[in-house]
Amino acid sequence: MTTPVPPTPATGYRPLVEATLPLLRDWLPRRRWFAGKGHPISAITPLAVTALPGPTGLARGTGTLLHLLLRVEQRQPGGGAPVVDVYQLLLGAHPDGPSGLHGADVPQDAVIGRITSGPHDGLVTYDAAYDPALTRRLLALLTSPQRLGPLRFSTLGGRLPAAAPGRVGTAEQSNTSIIYDAGAPAEAAILKLFRRVAPGLNPDLELSLALGRAGSSRIPAPLAWFEAELPDAPQEAPATLGVLTHFLREAEDGWELALRQIQLLDADPSRVGNFAAESFLLGRATADVHLALARSLPVTVLRRAEVESMAETMALRLDAACLAVPALGRHRDALRQVFRDLALAARGGLRLRAQRVHGDLHLGQVLRSARGWVLLDFEGEPAKTLDERRLPQPAVRDVAGILRSFDYAAAHARLADPAVAATWAARNREAFCAGYAATGAEDPTLDPVLLRAFETDKAVYEVVYEARHRPDWVSIPLAACARLATTTAHPAAVTPDTPTRQTPTEA
Ligand SMILES: Nc1ncnc2c1ncn2[C@@H]1O[C@H](COP(=O)(O)OP(=O)(O)O)[C@@H](O)[C@H]1O
Ligand SMILES: [Mg+2]
Repeated sequence: MTTPVPPTPATGYRPLVEATLPLLRDWLPRRRWFAGKGHPISAITPLAVTALPGPTGLARGTGTLLHLLLRVEQRQPGGGAPVVDVYQLLLGAHPDGPSGLHGADVPQDAVIGRITSGPHDGLVTYDAAYDPALTRRLLALLTSPQRLGPLRFSTLGGRLPAAAPGRVGTAEQSNTSIIYDAGAPAEAAILKLFRRVAPGLNPDLELSLALGRAGSSRIPAPLAWFEAELPDAPQEAPATLGVLTHFLREAEDGWELALRQIQLLDADPSRVGNFAAESFLLGRATADVHLALARSLPVTVLRRAEVESMAETMALRLDAACLAVPALGRHRDALRQVFRDLALAARGGLRLRAQRVHGDLHLGQVLRSARGWVLLDFEGEPAKTLDERRLPQPAVRDVAGILRSFDYAAAHARLADPAVAATWAARNREAFCAGYAATGAEDPTLDPVLLRAFETDKAVYEVVYEARHRPDWVSIPLAACARLATTTAHPAAVTPDTPTRQTPTEA
């Protein structure tokens, strides 16, 4: 076999990309972050190809690193307009594959495939997010403001890691996070690479920047980001491609922490309050974030028609969920009443303050660090468009997210005595709401109609999600729906034209 020839600036990078496109047709749909599962790819077009500088050659730790923005078109079953998405890919090329391939951290399927003809015959192309030697080049670009082709790198100051090799975090979902953690703890950083990208500011960056400017200590400090102008998109709406933040090496995930505590209860049920102090502090942290977001970004008031329409949308989601998951049907009438109560409250004078919120808050999105709780991942619900995710919403939406999460943890632990699990969840709900209110933010329990509507909407969403993705878990939100269907809120507490605690002062 002849020695493979890597591309150089002189040869250009198009032949390598062209040779990789057929391999991507097979590889892309198998990625967790690939959105349009199950539908055949009808075309892949490179929108932008940028070589990220570094030593090239055939020695280990060198190789070609290309940043690609790929337009992927998928045919829909039954015809209709094809679905088009833009994906970000770091493409590595080296005859041996990723430099750590035979080490522990590189999954075999990071390899896209071997090129078998043309000028680069013999090169292996792969997802370079998994190549520590290549991702350090991306870090180097993030350490000072600069432009490289269509890519724009911005920094915020703060301590950046020295050129450290990156490793991919294990929690890969819809994005890929690369951790640079080779030096002092204060210099550790994590780069979240968005996989599916769209023109416009990603709320994860937008809210981190706003909270950073507000001096909030409730998020890991943002350090740098990069973005690109997409062809055919307005110049003023570059697509956010990645955000680098301080990596909290010693921090613990809220979900893991909560589960560990609840699991102790089988041995000692008297410790049923064992997480309540943490929940109180988490309530404070959440309220601090809400207060800072309300100070930094626009706040609006949802009036009668808007609240009614919100209740109607929730009811329609319930109807659709009952069709998708027939087991939910037996609670439909009672749950519809929950949303009717909200609409009635709107007719009776309920006005809601809407502001920027987290949008997808649960125990898996919070970390307990030495300095307290921090919130992560302000992207909102990935299934929604960027514009939808950036709309102001009632802050109670995030509160409902955490309350549902306590219920999930309690059910997931499968304690011998379910009553102990239910008490644990109830204690944490109360503690969280008390902590939230202790900051001076609105006490979520003062508007039971509203809170119940948001919890119900969330539980209904979970039923559909679990039925589709994790059928073993569907009993958790179904049990919550059963409970929400029988709990009475107190709609009578909202009297016509009496401002509720959720009512902001209107000018
Ligand atoms: N700044 C950080 N410090 C420590 N761990 C982090 C940090 N940011 C993210 N993580 C870890 O990575 C996981 C995924 O990050 P997240 O921003 O929620 O991305 P995703 O969109 O993939 O959910 C988190 O659940 C957390 O365990
Ligand atoms: Mg997350």
